[in-house]
Amino acid sequence: MKKTTEQKPRLLTGDTPTGKLHLGHWVGSLENRVAMQRDYDCYFILANMHAFTTRASCPQEIRQNVLDITLDYLAAGIDPHLSTIFIQTEVPAIAELTFLFSMLVPYPRLMRNPTLKDEIRDKQLGDNYPFGFLLYPIGQVADILAFRAQVVPVGEDQLPLLELAREVARRFNQLYCGVDPHTADENYVSAGGLFPLFQSKLGRTKRLVGLGGPGAHGQLLKMSKSLNNAIYLSDDNDTVYKKVMSIYTDPHRIRATDPGKVEENPLWIFHDAFNPDKDWVEETKMLYQQGGVGDVVCKKKLVEVIIALLEPMHERRKLYSQDETSLLAILREGTARANVLAEDTLKKVKQAIHQDYFLREFILKDR
Ligand code: TRP
Repeated sequence: MKKTTEQKPRLLTGDTPTGKLHLGHWVGSLENRVAMQRDYDCYFILANMHAFTTRASCPQEIRQNVLDITLDYLAAGIDPHLSTIFIQTEVPAIAELTFLFSMLVPYPRLMRNPTLKDEIRDKQLGDNYPFGFLLYPIGQVADILAFRAQVVPVGEDQLPLLELAREVARRFNQLYCGVDPHTADENYVSAGGLFPLFQSKLGRTKRLVGLGGPGAHGQLLKMSKSLNNAIYLSDDNDTVYKKVMSIYTDPHRIRATDPGKVEENPLWIFHDAFNPDKDWVEETKMLYQQGGVGDVVCKKKLVEVIIALLEPMHERRKLYSQDETSLLAILREGTARANVLAEDTLKKVKQAIHQDYFLREFILKDR
């Protein structure tokens, strides 16, 4: 059972279940989460409703993705005794808060949000996105505010959504809790506000590149499932070997004695991101630039480095039984805890908006 964590600051973040987690997720956020779980009361949301905004026709896949990510979390070192992992759709307070918060966001303001605009462009949604797609930023506001989080670690692309969440928090606190609009962000709660003006936190590597070469615009592409250029946390050693040996390097280097370029070279970007032996990396980079070391040697070293990172994850993956029932048991416990907090927030919201007619409670049961 999770220990009392009252004193720790609360942290919330999570993932839209779109597929298995890869090394980009690890350096972008997961590594941070594992490191922070002792000092923060961590809530990790599996945002399955968000997955429906663009993949409503794939419900079974989304269910599988929820389970896959849960196992990835556990394998990566998120400890369910320390942290709370939960399923968004089983926390009804989030959906209720989404509806209410949608009253506090002007529609044109929403449509100017860069995260939303970029996503419409990148996923080529054109005019074909559903109404629910526009609701999801406000859903994400509710994910955060339902837990009155103080810290929200995310990737850079998410920052405009966090700004929206802060705006809603300010607005709610001013409108319904009587907080003076001139109040400094850090004083909103002491001034009587319900929602803290939380801080965002970025990972150490903002955007990890994939295994392949540059895209149409000459730039290296980000590691992503859809581009088929990822090393997954669940990849076994043979797969890691094959993927690393196929990694894109300097295309102008034919022989090991040709001088090589280390910038914009995924082989070296990966060594920088994952190899703990910084001296080796610096020395070998020099040699590489002078034509003093072959690609294969450096790739083999990278295989070792990545296997050393993933091996403990594979061990933990084995510890957690991979059947659905035991994963669901972990999720049920987390989701039950998440509901206690989110229901408490909703109760306080209802008091603040004078719509607190009755009390309610509910429990989660196994199917
Ligand atoms: N939209 C985020 C992503 O796709 C996932 C997410 C959902 C999230 N709700 C959140 C992240 C709340 C931080 C806080 O990466």
